[in-house]
Amino acid sequence: MKASIDFPRQGDKQNSAFFEEWLGRLLEDRDRQGLTENIGRIDSLMITVEPGHSAAYVGELCLMTPYDYLVTLETEQHSTHILRIDMHAPDVLVREVKDPNLHGIFRSLNEVYPIGAQRPNSRYMGEIFQVKNLHAVVETQKAREIRFFNQEQIRQMELPGNMAIVKPSPYTHNIVGYWERPDNHIRVYSLGVSSIRDDMQVAFEQAKALREKLGLDRLLLPIDHLATRVYSQNREAAILEYLTLSSYYYWGSYDIPDQNSSTNVTKNVHFANELHSPAKVFTAANHPYFCNHLIGKPSPTEAFVRNFGPRLHHLAVAVKDGHTGDQINIDYVVSALRNCGQQFLLEVVGSEQEGLKQIFSSASEHSSLIVEYVQRFGGFQGFFTKENVADLTAAAGADEILRGLDAAARA
Ligand SMILES: [Fe+2]
Repeated sequence: MKASIDFPRQGDKQNSAFFEEWLGRLLEDRDRQGLTENIGRIDSLMITVEPGHSAAYVGELCLMTPYDYLVTLETEQHSTHILRIDMHAPDVLVREVKDPNLHGIFRSLNEVYPIGAQRPNSRYMGEIFQVKNLHAVVETQKAREIRFFNQEQIRQMELPGNMAIVKPSPYTHNIVGYWERPDNHIRVYSLGVSSIRDDMQVAFEQAKALREKLGLDRLLLPIDHLATRVYSQNREAAILEYLTLSSYYYWGSYDIPDQNSSTNVTKNVHFANELHSPAKVFTAANHPYFCNHLIGKPSPTEAFVRNFGPRLHHLAVAVKDGHTGDQINIDYVVSALRNCGQQFLLEVVGSEQEGLKQIFSSASEHSSLIVEYVQRFGGFQGFFTKENVADLTAAAGADEILRGLDAAARA
């Protein structure tokens, strides 16, 4: 197996001497301990939504992405809906809290942030890795001071009993979990009582029928990347922590000076194709908020984190390369969804010549997450052009200002 440090480096952002030293040390140790080999793909993603929102959100995801609704796992305080493409792409678990007054750790992560608190149950929770030997991963990680929820806490939170789950990251507030699944086994979650819920099935069938009618089924591909926003000073720690927890390597970082920001990419060492295990992207401002008055430039990334807390900002769905009629596929997808009432924060940015085109949807009113669409042309390997990222970041920032004003008006 190739050493995790040996992947070619992309990007132009300079890291600190601390980062470069510990990147090498941590990856070398991870390889030597057998963790890189033991930890495989991202096997599922977990998202929580407000009470009463899951049918609408399942419908939204089943229209805007290639996911299908499979089954619901009912426990006392939560309904957990499983969405699936196949065993090559991660499942999405949409978890609805039944009682709006229920307080738990994931809600607490939203409540101290002014806009995050407006939808206290809406957030991306984290991802679960498929591992070969769960016991070995957990014991090795515990010896590296990684903290896990115990079995009683997992039972109380009503998370699947066949997972080991790391406590939320102090840098990203996301969790990482592990579970053992041989490649030839399907995913089975040890949680509650399973049933196919009529309301979910109706929402799914309506969305899927529309997805097929619009021709989106043959254009939408699995999740390409997951983009988390963190405080400026936590950029390097968040990346290094994620590499400690996963089998990902550091792909590189790009500076986006116009938006006082950088985009930092990590990818799975085992899968060159992101569609089999999404890339994890970390976005952070170049300066903390209290420097802004001396810089005089917008700082939408830091503003987002101050308003919502560190968290996942968007999940990006890949669009198949090619044309539909006389339109580039991504342009076709966006106009078809716009005709159904889906809003987007800007026009599609980028071009075939530059290698990729991208766009952000409006944030979901159910999960607060944005869906990005990304189409790469002719095998382009990158995640963005600098101009695209600047435009996307600015558009998302403008939307958050409006939502912040809206939240303030309602407070
Ligand atoms: Fe993105």
